[in-house]
Amino acid sequence: MPEGVHLEIAATVSSPPTELPRRYHVKSFGCQMNVYDSERMGDLLSAQGMAPVATPEEADVVVLNTCHIRERAAEKLYSDIGRLRQPRRDGSRPTIVAAGCVAQAEGAEIAARAPAVDVIVGPLAYHRLPQLLQQARGGRVIDIDMPAVPKFDSLPARHTTQASAFLTVQEGCDKFCTFCVVPYTRGPETSRPAADLLAEAKALVARGVREITLLGQNVNAYSDSLGGGLSLSGLIRELAQIDGLARIRYTTSHPRDMEGAGGDDLIAAHAEVAKLMPYLHLPVQSGSSRILKAMNRAHTRDSYLATLARLRAARPDIALSGDFIVGFPGESDADFEQTLSIVREVGYAAAYSFKYSIRPGTPAATMADQVPEAVKDERLARLQATISEASLAFNRSTVGRRCTVLLERPGRKPGQLIGKTPWLQSAVVSLPGAVIGDLVEVEIVSAMPNSVEAMPCRPQSQVA
Ligand code: SAH
Ligand code: SF4
Ligand code: F3S
Repeated sequence: MPEGVHLEIAATVSSPPTELPRRYHVKSFGCQMNVYDSERMGDLLSAQGMAPVATPEEADVVVLNTCHIRERAAEKLYSDIGRLRQPRRDGSRPTIVAAGCVAQAEGAEIAARAPAVDVIVGPLAYHRLPQLLQQARGGRVIDIDMPAVPKFDSLPARHTTQASAFLTVQEGCDKFCTFCVVPYTRGPETSRPAADLLAEAKALVARGVREITLLGQNVNAYSDSLGGGLSLSGLIRELAQIDGLARIRYTTSHPRDMEGAGGDDLIAAHAEVAKLMPYLHLPVQSGSSRILKAMNRAHTRDSYLATLARLRAARPDIALSGDFIVGFPGESDADFEQTLSIVREVGYAAAYSFKYSIRPGTPAATMADQVPEAVKDERLARLQATISEASLAFNRSTVGRRCTVLLERPGRKPGQLIGKTPWLQSAVVSLPGAVIGDLVEVEIVSAMPNSVEAMPCRPQSQVA
């Protein structure tokens, strides 16, 4: 048994299957890093000779890769387990794996509340999934260690066939925003060695990947301690040398790591590296500096706006997106008005907004002046309407621009394909003969709030 794996005998109602599992299904509930982890768990199971299936109903092993960020995200685990534990027509039931951030935060609670779960594994330990599945044949196993040996060293080759792939470069968080569970579920900030990342990126490109999105909870805090402290911009510049890789993106960045001289090199990369796409997700959370202080964000409204001004000076067409929380404890009407005004002032291309959700164990959970649910609902609706106006205005501002679109999936109508512009807009393109994975040159011809329509243009035209 590997170090740190706690074995316990489960008081399950029905026994786990005794046949060797052959088919697996991994369901992702969380952020892009959670999606990356799901893909890697799939790679692990495929390397064991198992085959992926499209639905949990067909699978012998179902991995529920959970998210703990808001209460509702965590609850989804229990409703899925409820469905999966029902015996199937032949009397069997799948082996159930609870993975991800809920498993990390509430492993013991899952074991007590959902006895049907066979394996509970945290986001830093899932490289041991094949062994855990073996051990689970004798009763439930829990592995929520944060092992010293990075999981990435123990993962098999990637099998993706997509045009655009994720690549986790940094994990964990040292920022401790007062509302957030991530520092507790993902541990401290760690960065993967650049040499490993370049090898993984080259292997992806050899499989046909054209675009790589570098992932991290605080991706712009990336620092390769083995590679002389290579920063994210240094990594991007090295990745840009890979022939066949057309586009590089990164997410999610923290404004704190972009402020002052610390952000200079990354901002310069936006001006200098052609493959780095003109898009940045830089969550602000609130437009009120008073609330930002209570959130422990370590940036103010003004310092955030100053960072955006530097980015726009370096790359004038950069598209910006953000995250917002409404109804943080103590948020007044005046604070909330400042959130609406920052959305209008920045002119976001896109933004994600959430009602504050109490997370047990975080400092904000016990703060005074919790905002009533009805007020949160009303603020969220107003914020989302303001964000939609901003997105539509941004999309309209791109009509007439020529650019490339990386085609990623079929559209609704025959002959249509959907892909992404450099500014991460979803673009609907009708181009006979084009296939998924093509990078096509287009002109944006019309704009909706969440997408644009594009027409092919002549190959020799100037494009972004
Ligand atoms: N590391 C990233 C965000 C990771 S979590 C950053 O610092 O920006 C993704 C988003 O979920 C956050 O940006 C925040 O907007 C939201 N979020 C996190 N905790 C939350 C909570 N308790 N309630 C509501 N939204 C939350
Ligand atoms: Fe959570 Fe803040 Fe860390 Fe982002 S920076 S993951 S919001 S604690
Ligand atoms: Fe959720 Fe964990 Fe990602 S809590 S947002 S899956 S880091």
